[in-house]
Order: sequence, then C-alpha cells, then structure tokens
Amino acid sequence: MNHSNLFDCSNKTTIVTGGGNGIGKACCKILAAHGANVVVSDLRKEAAEAVAHEIKKDGGNAIAISCNVLNDDDLVNLVKSSVDVFGGIEILINNAGGGGAGRESPYAISVKEFAWVFQLNVFSAWRLSQLCAPEMEKKGYGSMVNITSMGSINKSPNISAYASAKAALNHMTANLAFDYGPHGIRVNAVGPGATKTAALSKVLTPEIEAKMLSGTPIKRLGEVEDVAGAVLYFAAPISEWVSGQVLFVNGGGIQTLD
Ligand SMILES: NC(=O)c1ccc[n+]([C@@H]2O[C@H](COP(=O)([O-])OP(=O)(O)OC[C@H]3O[C@@H](n4cnc5c(N)ncnc54)[C@H](O)[C@@H]3O)[C@@H](O)[C@H]2O)c1
Repeated sequence: MNHSNLFDCSNKTTIVTGGGNGIGKACCKILAAHGANVVVSDLRKEAAEAVAHEIKKDGGNAIAISCNVLNDDDLVNLVKSSVDVFGGIEILINNAGGGGAGRESPYAISVKEFAWVFQLNVFSAWRLSQLCAPEMEKKGYGSMVNITSMGSINKSPNISAYASAKAALNHMTANLAFDYGPHGIRVNAVGPGATKTAALSKVLTPEIEAKMLSGTPIKRLGEVEDVAGAVLYFAAPISEWVSGQVLFVNGGGIQTLD
C-alpha cells in the first residue's frame, strides 16, 4: 500500500446530488481538490453551474448537470451524461435530501407528505445506486456515500418522516454493502449533526443553538467542510476495506431542534 496517495481521487468520476449548495457543494470542492472529475448535479441548474465554475477556476475538473432526484428520467440522464463526458463513474455521493425541521407532526401531515420524504431521502439514493453500480463495476472501483443524519438515531417530536427515512438510509447502506461488495463497490454513509447550511439557518434560533451546544463537547456547530472530510475518507482508496458503515460527524454530541 502506497501511503502517499490514499486520499487521491485523480480521474475518478464523482456524481454529487444536491451539489449546488451546503454539504453537497463542500463535497464537490474537496473531491475536486483531490483530483476527481466532479459532476455537480442539482435541482437548481444555476447553482450547479456556479459550483462547477468555481472548481474549474481553481484548476479542477467539473461539469454541471440539472437533476431533480425525484424524477427518474433526470437520474437516468445524470448517469448517461456523466459517462458520455468522463467515460465512466467511480464515486457517487447521494447528498440531496431533506424534510423534518419540526414540521412533521402526525396531526399535521398526510401520508402523501410522509411518502415524499422517503422518496427524497431513500428511494432516490437506492435508484441512483442501482444506475451507477454497473458503471462502477466496469471501472473496477466503486464507492457510494449516502448522506444521512443524526436525526436517524435521535428521538424527538415532529420529525418522524425525516428521522425514519434517514434511519432507513442507514440500514439500506449496510444491506447494499452486501449486494455490491462482491462487485468491488463499497457503500457507506455520513451522518451530520447540526451543520451550518441554508437548510439549518431556516430553523436555527440563538436559543436552539445554545441548547444544541450544551449537548456538544466540541463547542461549535458543524461546518460543511467537517462533513465533506468524512465523505472524502469514504470516497478515496484509504477506506478500501470499509463498507456498510455510518460515520456520525457531530462534534461528539447530540443536537436536536426541540
Ligand atoms: N445541514 C444540516 O444540519 C444537516 C444535518 C443532517 C443531515 N443533513 C443532510 O445533508 C444533506 C444536504 O443538506 P444541506 O443542509 O447541505 O442542504 P442545503 O439546503 O444547504 O442544500 C441542498 C442542495 O440540494 C438541492 N436540492 C434540493 N432538493 C433537490 C432535489 N429534489 N434534487 C436535487 N437537488 C436538490 C438544493 O437546490 C441545494 O443546492 C441532506 O441530505 C440533509 O438531510 C444536513
């Protein structure tokens, strides 16, 4: 094992969903800085284009593709376009996701809304993994990283759809590791605690932040780069014998919105 290049992702084509902002954007940037060809995909095309432009300005390799992970045609097109441009796919970061934010009281939401949260966080990741796996197998290198959440193991009110969807994502990660491992593909997940993004800023108040920090030994909230560092570990060859794992990046503590 050559220890000097264990984080090297040179020429490894990497799809990042929801790459136009927040954690996804930080993943795009750290992977590009380690040599990957990055396919920045996002619901918002302009956001994806801005990230791809930033990466190229810094000397990296990136393209932008518009993709709503809720739309199967978009997922198929994302994989096809990535292969057309870069000749294959080695790394997939299933980052697009969301829900929760204290809005999921069973007295307030319908089963349709509950199902939508599963579609966004679980079904899209499963489907994109299914589409990427044959490409990874052809390349002889595959790493899938699912962005889950501390919400997948916390217990709190008004978050039952998001929390159970992310818990399903954790268990899906562990099981897909068995399906894809024999084909040379690893499947892992990173579970952020409260991380400073646009999504968090919509619900964070000074009072909630103070309570979060009281339960967190490292006395700050997460930055997107904290999460991206863990993603790089799973994406790169350094973790070649690591699969089916969930790594929580949470300052050593627990942050909830209640
Ligand atoms: N920020 C946190 O504190 C936190 C904590 C735990 C888990 N997470 C998880 O991290 C992931 C990223 O969250 P974030 O905080 O960076 O969010 P964000 O809102 O800052 O960025 C999300 C990006 O995804 C894009 N997006 C939204 N819906 C999409 C769709 N249907 N298809 C494709 N792209 C879509 C948005 O346009 C945006 O660019 C999510 O899976 C989220 O559940 C975040």
